[in-house]
Amino acid sequence: AKKAVLGPLVGAVDQGTSSTRFLVFNSKTAELLSHHQVEIKQEFPKEGWVEQDPKEILMSVYECIEKTCEKLEQLNIDISNIKAIGVSNQRETTVVWDKITGEPLYNAVVWLDLRTQSTVENLSKRIPGNNNFVKSKTGLPLSTYFSAVKVRWLLDNVKEVQKAVEEDRALFGTIDSWLIWSLTGGTNGGVHCTDVTNASRTMLFNIHSLQWDKELCDFFGIPMKILPNVRSSSEIYGLMKAGSLEGVPISGCLGDQSAALVGQMCFRDGQAKNTYGTGCFLLCNTGRKCVFSEHGLLTTVAYKLGRDKPVYYALEGSVAIAGAVIRWLRDNLGIIRSSDEIEKLAKEVGTSYGCYFVPAFSGLYAPYWEPSARGIICGLTQFTNKCHIAFAALEAVCFQTREILDAMNRDCGIPLSHLQVDGGMTNNKILMQLQADILYIPVVKPSMPETTALGAAMAAGAAEGVGVWSLEPEDLSAVTMERFEPQINAEESEIRYSTWKKAVMKSMGWVT
Ligand code: G3P
Repeated sequence: AKKAVLGPLVGAVDQGTSSTRFLVFNSKTAELLSHHQVEIKQEFPKEGWVEQDPKEILMSVYECIEKTCEKLEQLNIDISNIKAIGVSNQRETTVVWDKITGEPLYNAVVWLDLRTQSTVENLSKRIPGNNNFVKSKTGLPLSTYFSAVKVRWLLDNVKEVQKAVEEDRALFGTIDSWLIWSLTGGTNGGVHCTDVTNASRTMLFNIHSLQWDKELCDFFGIPMKILPNVRSSSEIYGLMKAGSLEGVPISGCLGDQSAALVGQMCFRDGQAKNTYGTGCFLLCNTGRKCVFSEHGLLTTVAYKLGRDKPVYYALEGSVAIAGAVIRWLRDNLGIIRSSDEIEKLAKEVGTSYGCYFVPAFSGLYAPYWEPSARGIICGLTQFTNKCHIAFAALEAVCFQTREILDAMNRDCGIPLSHLQVDGGMTNNKILMQLQADILYIPVVKPSMPETTALGAAMAAGAAEGVGVWSLEPEDLSAVTMERFEPQINAEESEIRYSTWKKAVMKSMGWVT
């Protein structure tokens, strides 16, 4: 059959905590043409530890690319139309590998991992100067969440890592770096780089100078020779070295939350989006200035779309556990067989019947930053059943979002009039309605929810030397939206929220 004639296409890798996807878009219409998704294993070797296999992650990327290409061929779409590839990824997750053998020297230490709690406590006792040393340079609180302490742990505990550093064989990277190095050739000339958004999540990167910070590296004891080169989010880093897309440039790279901000077209000061993935992340574009939060939010690099383009910053409210609580109900309690069954269970009861679920599995992130918190389910009676617990789990995602939205409104001064949302969980209509009820503002969802991948594809397609995607705002406005209006009254919403806060207080201080 004759192949369909289309404009240039752009592919995007979306490597999240729970799954990997590869998606292909038409660069002229932003239409999603095909995609493939593979779930990623998580290992929990000890209480609070979370690891993944970097090789499995890499293989899943190749598998998704190949399967998507097969699907495109079946649609009669010529894959030689794919002109660029963007990468978006789970942030902070830390890999150290050997540049001579190409082998990871330990599993990836996932962003959610809590093993560095005592490292963080010890470091916080010897912060030089004022307590603001880390935050003023990086925008981040000293926390187990970010890469620097994970690398510190690997240097202190894994002999292979120590030896490889001594022998100049070790490379560090977040998932973007590991993937780009491997995809551009690995031991055969792979490019060791990261972009400013991912670098800004390591706690080693100065978000004002946009460079690795020597004082921070000394403070954490991280040798600067293992760090990747920092590049903009939109430029050609290298070419694919294998597979069906061999020779295609990789020209976009953004941490997944930054990618979603771009994909949701939040290019103006004050525009915000909330992404419901494994965790939940609300980012508000603050333009070209770094705004520091008074209410537990992070300051982070939003994007820099080209070598000579300006950097944009964002305020971020980070929630560790959102979709992960549904996966826990499936894998650990077995009360659902697949994640989408949660909606059916919740619908059966339409209320948690006084049951509250605080999923503080990795402590609490924004706005509390409390590593000692642990998950609790409270308010149980003999009447409570699995449907109520399922409902309480969905409500927990909404309450956590309410907490970070409140913090955002206080920091920004102008409350958000509506919430732009995206991510896998937004297909759940009960969740979206609950979210509107609990925030008491409309929730707005684009009809194409894969905005993370779209953002990475836009960055890749717009890069100098590729030039198949235009980022002019007027090109980007025709996105259809679904809207959820609050349906309960404000008073009822406040009562539910204040009971949630009581439950949060009970979840704190479980471990010391
Ligand atoms: O900071 C962690 C974040 O990037 C993970 O995103 O999509 O896996 O929840 P996600």
